[in-house]
Amino acid sequence: MQEMNNSATESKLFELAASARGKAYVPYSGFPVGAAIETVSGNYYAGCNVENVSYPIGTCAEAGAIAAMVACGELKIKKILIIAGGKELIAPCGACLQRIKEFSTDETEILLATPRGIEKKFSLAQMLPFGFNNSELKHD
Ligand code: THU
Repeated sequence: MQEMNNSATESKLFELAASARGKAYVPYSGFPVGAAIETVSGNYYAGCNVENVSYPIGTCAEAGAIAAMVACGELKIKKILIIAGGKELIAPCGACLQRIKEFSTDETEILLATPRGIEKKFSLAQMLPFGFNNSELKHD
């Protein structure tokens, strides 16, 4: 299979995230968000926010995309793109940055988009320089 170049993979991430955003279940906030992941092995997963009448148990788009990735046996995020409405660019919430960190590498990138396209790119380290990472909690 021919490898996709950087801009082709980013267009694919954008399309997948925008499509997932179109399916977001947001009857309470009215604020649809989509997320799409490219893994280190070159596969793609998408998610959207899913709200609930019990407000605190609603889930973010990033959490949905990560769950889809893990369910397919993948654990390493190369890029994650998050898309919300156009008025203001949104960043992942603190909890989602920690979720991304769990499945990150030193090169993991976060792409922030609006319906106009990709507007900003950051490394995870830029957005979460001191996330929780207690190696004592890990065991083989
Ligand atoms: N939301 C996300 O899906 N991802 C984020 O990074 C920020 C917020 C969702 C949660 C809720 O359904 C809606 O946006 C408004 O907060």
